[in-house]
Amino acid sequence: FRNIDAMDAQGKRVLLRADLNVPVRDGVITDRTRIERLAPTIRELAEKGARVIICSHFDRPKGKRVPEMSLQPMVEALSAALDRPVAWAEDCIGPQAEAAVAALADGEVLLLENTRFHAGEEKNDPAMAAALAKLADVYVNDAFSAAHRAHASTEGVAHLLPAYPGRLMEAELKALDAALGNPARPVVAIVGGAKISTKLELLGNLTRRVNVLVIGGAMANTFLAAQGHPMGRSLQEAEMHDTARTIMAEAQAANCEILLPVDLVVASEFAAQAPHRTVAVDRVPQDMMALDVGPDTVELVEKRLRQASTLVWNGPFGAFEIPPFDTATVAVAQSVAGLTSSAGLKSIAGGGDTVSALRHAGVMERLTYVSSAGGAFLEWLEGKTLPGVKVLETA
Ligand code: 3PG
Repeated sequence: FRNIDAMDAQGKRVLLRADLNVPVRDGVITDRTRIERLAPTIRELAEKGARVIICSHFDRPKGKRVPEMSLQPMVEALSAALDRPVAWAEDCIGPQAEAAVAALADGEVLLLENTRFHAGEEKNDPAMAAALAKLADVYVNDAFSAAHRAHASTEGVAHLLPAYPGRLMEAELKALDAALGNPARPVVAIVGGAKISTKLELLGNLTRRVNVLVIGGAMANTFLAAQGHPMGRSLQEAEMHDTARTIMAEAQAANCEILLPVDLVVASEFAAQAPHRTVAVDRVPQDMMALDVGPDTVELVEKRLRQASTLVWNGPFGAFEIPPFDTATVAVAQSVAGLTSSAGLKSIAGGGDTVSALRHAGVMERLTYVSSAGGAFLEWLEGKTLPGVKVLETA
């Protein structure tokens, strides 16, 4: 990979693909992580004298101009994060965009309207890619979290201009390589979440690549049921029992230890502070449901973590949104943070729920790396090639 160190930025028009698809509620940005992580790349390019033209998608307007999905509210947020003015163009291609670019001086920053307002974006239409390329001399992609999409602004345009990864893209790729590409062993992976069916490829890839695979969340219920444990009213996928057994057999063949819960916290309803108790996995009452893993399981996980050099984490252990069912997730998160600073554990986490859970546990800043990506992080864990990354490698 070459990076922007190799780029002559002075006076260049740089098209910067960002991921400004940030969480917004009632018109207010509720999480600025992606904006804050993107800011250093913009600042560096601007300070080197580039004319920075930022493009991004936001939400899923499906090729139509949907006013609620405008990127305009990001102008102020970006400007605040950068501490410099940010200009605005009401379209990302065509005369309006071209005029806004022409008005830029060296070191100035411009934000273009949502790329997904044009149907050509998601179709990776060559005409759309050419219209974007026309705006700039160089392309920089800092949107790792959108790199699993082969769209005009993430893939097509990279064939038409000299293309470089931005600083955030570089950091993501470096962290992910340290986790699964060429990791220090032993490697432990923690995978939680509700369903095996949505994480099948991921589980298959991990059993081939990690030493210990810890399974938590409701998907553990499916594995336990497949082993013959009655799971009461717990959430599980009855049609996935054969699949769960196949995954366990594959793991054994690959010398990967699968660690399943040994105890569970059960309640009769999914509600905050619902009466609950801890039971062994073979003692789940018929009328109750598992909502978290118990303390003995947490201890087993911590033991594996103390022996590990690398951790990859995706998905919480329990229903962490509703206390006290956040207990195991918070306890493991705190151990991971501790081992990262005291024992040199390389801890890499990602995925939407995982990031919320780590923030809830107050350890976001204490892991080695927390990815800003959701879907892209999962596809990468599945071992897939991300089109937005591949094109930078070959560019
Ligand atoms: C994300 O938030 O995961 C990315 O911005 C991709 O968004 P998408 O799933 O709408 O393509």
